[in-house]
Amino acid sequence: MDIDLIAKELEQTGYIVLAKPLADELLEGLLARCEDDGTGRFQSAHVGRGAAKQRIESIRGDVISWIEGEDPVDRAFLEQMENLRRELNARLFLGMFDYESHYAIYSAGYGYAKHSDVLQGKKNRILTTVLYLNKDWQPEYGGELVVYDPSGEQELLRLQPTFGTMIIFLSESFPHEVLPSRATRRSIAGWFRVSGS
Ligand code: OGA
Ligand code: MN
Repeated sequence: MDIDLIAKELEQTGYIVLAKPLADELLEGLLARCEDDGTGRFQSAHVGRGAAKQRIESIRGDVISWIEGEDPVDRAFLEQMENLRRELNARLFLGMFDYESHYAIYSAGYGYAKHSDVLQGKKNRILTTVLYLNKDWQPEYGGELVVYDPSGEQELLRLQPTFGTMIIFLSESFPHEVLPSRATRRSIAGWFRVSGS
């Protein structure tokens, strides 16, 4: 990964799209992990926290599996992200202290309505990362990530979820949504966090 470029873009525009920051071998392993639901690993995603937590398919239709185990592929991914965390902290003084992430699968017809990744009353998410795992993705499948300016009114970019692409953006600054897709859509979403609320 070109850390200097990432740091510069985050500083200047607040987001960056990387064509293929991770090695092919790792991407293949991550895709296999995202296709493996052998032990019922994937659970419906929820919206909100605590008492407000609810599953509303019309808002958010993915099933997710948090990355936290000892699987060697997961560990290799987390190592890469840990390295990125340290390098970005050294350049941007963001004070990020950990990284949480999950595999996500959107079945055909599902998306994620426009939202912010910073939950109300919780400001600990600093940077969002999304890595896409879809081979041979076709434009007509839809499923784009749409990123808006901080006001939420102006569309900044539309990104197809093609294999190996990663976007990184300031979690608090960019409302975004996942358009419904016509094919199964796989990804890893993650957040670098600071401690505290
Ligand atoms: C999320 C999210 C974007 C994407 O999980 O919070 O916004 O493109 N994902 O999958
Ligand atoms: Mn999001």
